[in-house]
Amino acid sequence: MELVRRSRAMKDLARQAHGRGRRIGFVPTMGALHEGHLTLVRRVRELTDVVVLSIFVNPLQFGASEDFDTYPRDLTRDADLCVAESVDWVFAPGEEEIYPPGAQTTVEVAEISGRIEGASRPGHFRGVSTVVLKLLEIVRPDVAAFGQKDAQQTAIIRRMVKDLMLDVEILVVPILRDEDGLALSSRNARMSPDERRAALAIPRALEAARKLVEAGQRQAERIVAAAREALQAEPALSIDYVQLVDPTWFEPVTHVAGEALLVVAAWSGGTRLIDNTFLRPA
Ligand code: PAJ
Repeated sequence: MELVRRSRAMKDLARQAHGRGRRIGFVPTMGALHEGHLTLVRRVRELTDVVVLSIFVNPLQFGASEDFDTYPRDLTRDADLCVAESVDWVFAPGEEEIYPPGAQTTVEVAEISGRIEGASRPGHFRGVSTVVLKLLEIVRPDVAAFGQKDAQQTAIIRRMVKDLMLDVEILVVPILRDEDGLALSSRNARMSPDERRAALAIPRALEAARKLVEAGQRQAERIVAAAREALQAEPALSIDYVQLVDPTWFEPVTHVAGEALLVVAAWSGGTRLIDNTFLRPA
């Protein structure tokens, strides 16, 4: 494993790898790596010859009142995990490598970025699409992997790749969950045992919705109400949103016809958690 700090050096390495006919796989992250991130690494490794993992806590995707300053950072531990996974290059640029002084240019995938998660976190997805475009330009991967955990993020990146005609295959990897059902997240480590217990109402709510659809329910209103009820059964949890949307545009749907996505965001103490599940008629 080689640690790469500069964008220029990363570009040169990528160009040389392509020159030798190697296919590059890429996993963009903000570090604080967990098994969820590592499943992305393992999936891209199956499809490519060299694997690049980036670690960059992207200031542009955090709101002023969000946790940029306290986001967990531990490059030594992350690098060790990458060695164990035989990641070829860890690209961990400083802020000025991604945002040169005076940088003015951003990219925004218009409508979808303002919906659901984007409505709760204004500007968040502009930050995500901007940094992902820059990282794709630096690493020039053949395949880039993203987690279904951040469902709207993957939809936005897919749209951006189509709109800008980028030459990269986007691979979406299913949500990895802990044994108790909680989706793995770098932010989980922040919760107290009680907060974590409360957070388990989130996977329970998704399960309640799935059961209802399995039993034949198709009406979004009913499905969302059942999920909401399961969340409210846990008084320590506070709901940001529960919505049934279409998985491409993130527009609310009234019925489960084809594939719909139930998306949830909730706070357990000071930790904001998101989760989702596909719902489809049997
Ligand atoms: P981060 O939260 O570090 O996540 C990096 C990647 O890991 C994302 O694609 C995310 O969806 C995936 N991931 C996280 N938890 C997962 C889980 N439990 N199962 C499967 N995949 C999981 O998402 C970001 O970073 C940033 O927004 C980024 C894309 C790097 C841009 O800054």
